[in-house]
Amino acid sequence: MTYTEKDKKFKRYTVTSALPYANGPVHIGHLAGVYVPADIYVRYLRAQGEDVMFIGGSDEHGVPITIKARKEGCTPQDIVDRYHKIIKDSFAELGISFDIYSRTSSEEHHRTAAEYFKKLYNEGKFIEKTSMQYYDEEAHQFLADRYITGTCPHCGNEHAYGDQCEACGTSLNATDLINPKSALSGAKPVLRETKHWFLPLDQDEPWLRQWILEGHKDDWKTNVYGQCKSWIDAGLQPRAVTRDLDWGVKVPLEDAEGKVLYVWFDAPIGYISFTKQLKGNDWEKWWKDHDTKLVHFIGKDNIVFHCIIFPSMLHADGSYILPDNVPANEFLNLEGDKISTSRNWAVWLHEYLRDFPGKQDVLRYTLCSNAPETKDNDFTWKDFQLKNNSELVAILGNFVNRTVVLTHKFFEGRVPAQGKLTELDNDVIAELKTFPERIGRSIETYRFREALAEMMNLARLGNKYLTETEPWKLFKTDPERTATALNLALQICANLAVLCAPFLPFTADKMHRMLNLQALGWRDAGRSDLLTEGTLLEQPELLFEKIEDTAIEAQVNRLLETKKQNELNAWQPATVKEKVSFDDFGKVDIRVGTVMECSKVPKADKLLQFKIDDGMGGRTIVSGIAKYYPEPEKLVGKQVCFIANFEPRKLKGVVSEGMILSAEDKDGRLVLITPSQLVTSGVNVG
Ligand code: MF3
Ligand code: ZN
Repeated sequence: MTYTEKDKKFKRYTVTSALPYANGPVHIGHLAGVYVPADIYVRYLRAQGEDVMFIGGSDEHGVPITIKARKEGCTPQDIVDRYHKIIKDSFAELGISFDIYSRTSSEEHHRTAAEYFKKLYNEGKFIEKTSMQYYDEEAHQFLADRYITGTCPHCGNEHAYGDQCEACGTSLNATDLINPKSALSGAKPVLRETKHWFLPLDQDEPWLRQWILEGHKDDWKTNVYGQCKSWIDAGLQPRAVTRDLDWGVKVPLEDAEGKVLYVWFDAPIGYISFTKQLKGNDWEKWWKDHDTKLVHFIGKDNIVFHCIIFPSMLHADGSYILPDNVPANEFLNLEGDKISTSRNWAVWLHEYLRDFPGKQDVLRYTLCSNAPETKDNDFTWKDFQLKNNSELVAILGNFVNRTVVLTHKFFEGRVPAQGKLTELDNDVIAELKTFPERIGRSIETYRFREALAEMMNLARLGNKYLTETEPWKLFKTDPERTATALNLALQICANLAVLCAPFLPFTADKMHRMLNLQALGWRDAGRSDLLTEGTLLEQPELLFEKIEDTAIEAQVNRLLETKKQNELNAWQPATVKEKVSFDDFGKVDIRVGTVMECSKVPKADKLLQFKIDDGMGGRTIVSGIAKYYPEPEKLVGKQVCFIANFEPRKLKGVVSEGMILSAEDKDGRLVLITPSQLVTSGVNVG
């Protein structure tokens, strides 16, 4: 087989999207990186009449799931049941059109993954190695991957995991970590002997070089190609494909008690086992026929697994095709910060759907038009509002609405006749013809932003055509010309209904209904006779509505709240100051006094003015705590601590003879320090 054959015609498409871990809901980062582009791609291919299978599902194994279960005091199965449902339902509501959305805890998956391992094992494709691995003597278990944390030897991050440092992105072995600690008990782990099976990736280097570095230099994205190249150039190492854990697919061997397949070994096999669930006996051609095109949609953190490790597993079996492309995206940030599940810094899909019902296409549009295709990008709520109000509403929605409204106004809602064509008409017709191919080519080369922008350009063309022909002015003097102009505008609407469908499927459905358009394929687009004369249109329906500032502010406020919460959670006591001697401390004269009077300092919102009985005839002290004591008169009679020998200072015209002590809580709130029992005014504190 040559891996460099280009431009071949494929009979069918196997399209996979990374299986999200079922330990939390999905957020806009997942969507922009993986699921929205994948869905656009498959919807486009289907419109082209291609035979497509779109695979998705939950990745239900791996240590993060067991850690979460332990934290919540439930079983891993409880965790994955909960999130599988949330994720599956929210994807369906967003219109991500999987042909199957299954899960790796399914029986078929366990069987398929175990058989896959067994076959490679029987054929001697693994190396068996006994090595020393960390073991937690308190929890009585081996510490795989995320069960162990420590300091990254590359960047010094103190919270690196046993398999990866998230700060610098390096993939690690647990034994590389400095100061390793068990994530289960916090104990210092000990090394114990254990046996595992390894995929000898070092032996795969020659064909991987040929296949990727020579064969896909031009058609894989540069970020993907670059990561593969640096991995291969760094020298591939054998990878363990089993773990000492009890959650996962059991290693199907006699002497493998307490061992499961490594999650990154079993999960991609999910693509295959889900195909079996979907296609039954007919599954093999989707994975083995050379006229099948296999495409993996993933985020950038998945590149090595889909470009090197999984292909090596497929190659080791020998009967499978390899991916034709792996169009990985970079990351999407949120309001300038990295999206983070643990810090709740995310826009969760299920919450978006709750807060913006019926606005699935707005999210799909925003995420696609701002997708991190070549570099990390930022999602902001302001931008979301702008894209809706000044693009979807003002360009696409406005064009379609105007056209349909005018047709109702002048022609009782029936598609008017296309009369004699002017030069302008012919130009528009000629330009219209070029859109389907141009958009299609961008989609086929995984440039979804560009494709979407082109689709919107067609709506712009429509608006321009209406502006130039002004059918609303013409009707009285030239009804025939009005008819032609509206006919052509309607033809553009019909084309938009077809061409926007991969990106905005809900809008496309509405447009089909409104225009009474039968289902058309991509190849029908470009024509200017999609709507036949006399067709009765439905009543105009707004495709998009303006999003108001209040809706956006609510979202931004939620994020500000999250940020505040995160800061509080991250609070730590200040570092202790330099040591002072007993004598030095003794220089500060702290006393207890009783509040005689207390009121706000006029024209100073922060300051309270106290009259303190100090046992020495009384004194005035000003303190910046007004915000925290809105009813100062209630402080009368309370005892406070104050520094009696503090240099007098003038504050807003009042001379303050001392300083009242208060504690600053972690949220910045100031709280007065009072003795726990009444004492005589003026006594020393020390
Ligand atoms: N669960 C993985 C992640 O979220 C992706 C798994 S993709 C598969 O990063 F290929 F393994 F299925
Ligand atoms: Zn690091």
